[in-house]
Amino acid sequence: MAESNGTGSDKARALHGDAVDATADTHLTTNTGVAIGDNHNQLTAGDRGPTVMEDHVFREKMTHFDHERIPERVVHPRGSGAHGFFQVYEPLTDLTCAAFLQDPSVKTPVFVRFSTVVGFRGSADTVRDVRGFATKFYTSDGNFDLVGNNMPVFFIQDAMKFPDLVHSIKPEPHNEMPQASAAHDTFWDFASLMPESTHMLLWVLSDRAIPRSYRMMEGFGVHTFRFVNAEGRSRFVKFHWKPLLGTHSLVWDEAQKLAGADPDFHRRDLWEAIESGDFPEFELGVQVIEEDQADSFDFDLLDATKIVPEELVPVRRVGKMTLDRNPANFFAETEQVAFHPGHVVPGIDFTNDPLLQGRLFSYVDTQLIRLGGPNFNEIPINRPLVDVHNNQRDGFMRQTVHEGRVSYEPSSLGGGCPMQAGGDMRALRAFGERMEGLKTRTRSETFADHFSQATLFWNSQSEIEKQHIVGALHFELGKVEHMHVRQRVVDLLANVDRDLAERAAAGIGVTEVTGDLSYLDDYASPKPNDVRGAAAPGVSRALSMDQGDDGHGVRTRKVALLAADGFDEGSLQAVQEAITSGGGKTMVIAKLLGSVTGGGGMSLDVDKSHVTTIGAEYDAVFVCGGSAVEHLQEQDEVMEFVRQAFKHCKPIAAAGSAVELLQSIDRPGVELADGDGSDVTSSHGVVTAGSGADMAAFAAAFVEAIGKHRHWSRELVGMVG
Ligand code: HEM
Repeated sequence: MAESNGTGSDKARALHGDAVDATADTHLTTNTGVAIGDNHNQLTAGDRGPTVMEDHVFREKMTHFDHERIPERVVHPRGSGAHGFFQVYEPLTDLTCAAFLQDPSVKTPVFVRFSTVVGFRGSADTVRDVRGFATKFYTSDGNFDLVGNNMPVFFIQDAMKFPDLVHSIKPEPHNEMPQASAAHDTFWDFASLMPESTHMLLWVLSDRAIPRSYRMMEGFGVHTFRFVNAEGRSRFVKFHWKPLLGTHSLVWDEAQKLAGADPDFHRRDLWEAIESGDFPEFELGVQVIEEDQADSFDFDLLDATKIVPEELVPVRRVGKMTLDRNPANFFAETEQVAFHPGHVVPGIDFTNDPLLQGRLFSYVDTQLIRLGGPNFNEIPINRPLVDVHNNQRDGFMRQTVHEGRVSYEPSSLGGGCPMQAGGDMRALRAFGERMEGLKTRTRSETFADHFSQATLFWNSQSEIEKQHIVGALHFELGKVEHMHVRQRVVDLLANVDRDLAERAAAGIGVTEVTGDLSYLDDYASPKPNDVRGAAAPGVSRALSMDQGDDGHGVRTRKVALLAADGFDEGSLQAVQEAITSGGGKTMVIAKLLGSVTGGGGMSLDVDKSHVTTIGAEYDAVFVCGGSAVEHLQEQDEVMEFVRQAFKHCKPIAAAGSAVELLQSIDRPGVELADGDGSDVTSSHGVVTAGSGADMAAFAAAFVEAIGKHRHWSRELVGMVG
C-alpha cells in the first residue's frame, strides 16, 4: 500500500485499485469468472418444467441477492458521505506531534459521513435530530477519526445511560412509531427524569436540529481530548468544524414539507454541490486549554453536557477541509465506513470523560456484527494509506495473504519483525496521567450543575430563535400523551428560565409552572445540585445562529424563477445574471416541462414542473413579469409557491406586472413598489420594482436579501406565524 505522499487524491488512487468499471465492455460471468450464456431463464426440465438442482448459475445469483443487506447502524443509520482533503494553516508543533497538523503543504485525504441519529436508513433527511459529522483523516501516521456531531454537548454524562437514551428516543417498541422523531412519550419521559439532558434538549429544540444543508452546519468533537507534543506535554483540546458558508437552518414547517417532497434533501444537496464544483469547506477549530486553566472553570471539562464558551477560550482556526469528490459506490464507501473515536494518532489522546470512555468500547463492538467479523479494517474505505503490520490473523473474509511462518511477537524466526516501535519513534503512547481513587460507581459532584449552561444557551438566543424553541416544545410535547410527563418537562424548564417554561406550558395545556423537581426523588437519576456555577450564565454570542447579515451572499443558493409564456426578458436576465455571478443557481419552474417563450421571443428551458418540485426546495423565489403574470396568477401551484416562500421568511422578488401577483397574496405590512413606476423597494425581504426601474439595481437588492438567508422580521411582527 502506498505511503501518503501528501496529496488529497492518495485515497482516491488507493480506492481505484479496488474499483471495477461496472459498465466495462465485457460479458457477464459467474463469481468464478465463467461466462454466462443466458441471464434470463432458469435451467428447467422442459420449457414448462421445474428448475433442476444443478442450476448453479441461478442459485449463485439468487443466494448473493438474498444476502445483499447488512444490519443498519444501531444509531446514525441514515447518512451521506463525501471525500476530500484537509490542510493545516501553520505547523501546530508546539501543541501536538500529530503528523497531519505539521505541514501546510500536505493535503491529508479525508472521508466524511454526515448523518441523522434516530431515523432508520430510509428515513427523511430533514427531521428534527442531531446530525452526525464524522471525519476519517487518512494521515501518514495512520487513521484519525473525529466522530462528532453538529451540537457541542450530549444528552447524558455517562455511557452507561446510552442504551436507555437510544431506546427511549427510537420508535416505541410495541408499535414501532414514530419514525425518526423524539416527539413521543418514551423520550420525554426519559428526558424529564434525566435533568443532565436539559442543556442538550435546548440544542435539539433549536433550529440547529433542522439544518438547511450539511454544508451549512457546525461540527463538534463534543468531548475534551488531549493534544500531546513531541516533548510529551499535554493540553486539553475541544475540536470544532466551522462551515465557510455559515450556519443556517430550515424552518420547521418547511422541514416537514421537505420530508415528504424530497426525503433525500440533504443527500441531494451535498451530492449536487460537489458535482457542480461548489465544494463544501469547513475550517477546523481548536479550543486549547492548559491543565491549570481547566481548574478555574465552574464546570467540569470531563462533562459532555458542557461547552467551553468561546468567550472563555476562543476557537483558533487551524486548517481547512474541502469536500471535493462524491463516493463512487454508496454501499462500498458510505455504508461500509467504520468510524471509531478510539482511532487516534500520536499527538492526540483521550481524557477520562465517562461518555468518551464508554464510546471507546462501543464502536468496534457494534461493527463486528454490522460488518460481519473482525476484518472490516481491510474494506477499502477503512484501510489506512500506510502499511498495516501485526499478527492478527484469520477470521471471516480475511483479504490479506500473510506470507511466512511467524504470526507472533517476539519472534527470532521472523528476524524480530514486525517489532514494537522504538522509544525514539512516533508511536501511540498513552499520556502518563496520574491516577488515584477508590473503585466506585458514582457521579462526580462536579457534574451536578445541570442548568447554568442551559440558561446560558437560552439567554444567548435571539427572540426569533426563542420563538422557534417554544414552537418546537409545543410540537414535541404536544405529541406526548401523558400529562404528567408534560408537566415534568415544564418544571424542568422552569429551572432554566421561567419565561421559557411559561411559554412552553401555554401551548400544551399545562396550567401550573412550579419548577418543583421533587418528583426526581422517586428515581435513581443523578439529581442536579441546587448551586449553579459560580459565574452568572450571561450570554455567548457564538451560540446564536441569528447574527444578522452573514455576508455569505448567494453562493450555492438555489433560486426559483416562476415562469410562463410571455415572461419579461429584461428583469429575468438581470436576476439570472446577478445570481449566477454571485455563485448562486437559478432554476426555471413552470406548469409543464419543456420550454417557455419570453415576450421578445427568447426561449427558456424549464428545469422543473410543479408536479416535480415544491417551494420549500428553494432559498428564494423570483416571479417573472410581462404577460406571463396572467398565466401565473391562474395557477394555484404558483400562488402556493409564493405563499410558502413568504411564510418561510424567504426572499421574494417581482418586477413590473409581477408586483400585481404579490398584491393578491396576504402579506400584511409589506410595502410593494408601484409596478408601473421606477422605484426599487425592499420590505421584509420582499424586493419589488416598477417596470421603469433600473433592473440591475433591482437584482442587486434581491441578491442582498438572499444573503440574509431568512427575513425573520415577518415572524417577529406577526405577519406569519
Ligand atoms: C456513550 C455514548 C455513545 C455511544 C455508546 C455511541 C455508540 C455509537 C454506535 C454503536 C454507533 C454506530 C457505529 C457503527 O455501526 O459504525 C455510533 C455512531 C455514531 N456516533 Fe455514537 N455513540 C455515543 C455517543 C456519541 C456522541 C457523544 C457523538 C458525538 C460526539 C457520537 C457520534 C456518532 C456518529 C457521528 C456516528 C455515526 C458514524 C458514521 O457516520 O458512521 N456518538 N455511535
